[in-house]
Amino acid sequence: MKSAVYAVYSAFIPRHLHNITTHGKKTFDIPNGPSLRFKRFHSCMDEDLVCSRTTIDRKYFPQLFSIAPMMDWTDNHYRTLARLISKHAWLYTEMVVAETIVHQSENLDRFLAFSPIQHPIVLQIGGSNLTNLAKAAELANSYSYDEINLNCGCPSGKVAGHGCFGARLMFDPEFVGDAMSAIASNCDVPVSVKCRIGVDDRDSYDELCNFIHTVSSRSPTKHFIIHARKALLNGLSPAANRKVPPLKYEYYFALLRDFPEICFTINGGITCIDQVTAALREGANGVMVGRAAYNNPWNTLGHVDSEVYGASSSNLSRRQILENYQMYGDSELGKYGPNKPSVRQMVKPLLNLFHSEPGNGLWKRKADTALRHCTTIKSFLEETLDAIPDNVLDSTFLRNPSIGEGGFAGINSLPPPPYRSCEKQTLSIIGA
Ligand SMILES: Cc1cc2nc3c(=O)[nH]c(=O)nc-3n(C[C@H](O)[C@H](O)[C@H](O)COP(=O)(O)O)c2cc1C
Repeated sequence: MKSAVYAVYSAFIPRHLHNITTHGKKTFDIPNGPSLRFKRFHSCMDEDLVCSRTTIDRKYFPQLFSIAPMMDWTDNHYRTLARLISKHAWLYTEMVVAETIVHQSENLDRFLAFSPIQHPIVLQIGGSNLTNLAKAAELANSYSYDEINLNCGCPSGKVAGHGCFGARLMFDPEFVGDAMSAIASNCDVPVSVKCRIGVDDRDSYDELCNFIHTVSSRSPTKHFIIHARKALLNGLSPAANRKVPPLKYEYYFALLRDFPEICFTINGGITCIDQVTAALREGANGVMVGRAAYNNPWNTLGHVDSEVYGASSSNLSRRQILENYQMYGDSELGKYGPNKPSVRQMVKPLLNLFHSEPGNGLWKRKADTALRHCTTIKSFLEETLDAIPDNVLDSTFLRNPSIGEGGFAGINSLPPPPYRSCEKQTLSIIGA
């Protein structure tokens, strides 16, 4: 039986989130561009004129729940663990910089390969060079990601400062529109943008709307992930930038009101499945969870299939998940050279699997010792797992009685006034 949440949302979620679509290509050449294809989209209205869609039905559930892209965290190994816990959550890669893809084109598997079990999966790329973004999308296309996403939210000095991309791109919506157009023209899957609600003092609701309007008018981008706090580019570390600027969920819900033709995923500060389902009930098109999915994967992801998608859970116990992961892990060790990846890298995503459970502290201490000498994941687990009681290892997901109760904190804040695009304002001034 489908969950109430899934049944309601599947009725009106844009079709591209149910299926994978490919776009007919309309191309023009770029100077010195090899075989890249760029597509111009002058407005949402003429999209149908320039692109015909064919549908490849991959039978994934829509992107109601996704795990955020997180550098050094959502690598192949974490994503494998996450997929063992939830069959339907959408996974995002860490950000891969376009120049890395372009300059490592002989070595792409290292950056782009993933196991087919990770579908549905979105590749996040970063960059600010149109040609490289287009080329990166073209090179990534053969890996069959289910969506390509552009990072417009990272505030790190390396990225938004020296690199001039990430959150800094929000200052130039026209460029982002053109970049998305270039990316879309060089891949066969939908494209999306992940952004903040503003940057520095460019943080009004109208400026956010101008960004969405401009990007979606100049490109086929119909999905935006909104990290509902602004980024401060001067002085705050990336970690502080995920805590200090206040969350303004009212901006997110106002976007749903003002751009009904666009799909918006909410992100930021969502820590449990109750909040996920509450946000969906309040009208969110999708919910993205970052830190909670990494720091407490069992409790955050274990209920996604049943509570969000109304599907059966994998019903695996953590002992079974670890058995599966061990086979994957031992087959991966040393794949890219001596100690690449290492036992430590493979074990890292497992270390939060027993968050707040009896035996967790002892397990982590044993893990610390074992990581100094174990050469396989099998021997690591054999040496450490006796710290965890059998009932913890063998239980499947426990349904939390509070699931489904309550509302979404922040939704009651006063929404900003409705957005009127510059074009609409001009038309009303001249009385058209
Ligand atoms: C360690 C770490 C790395 C991150 N790396 C990225 C990244 O590569 N790309 C991106 O768009 N966001 C990145 N983020 C931000 C998250 O995707 C997400 O927007 C943020 O953590 C807020 O969501 P949360 O409150 O659910 O964690 C990162 C966050 C963390 C904690």
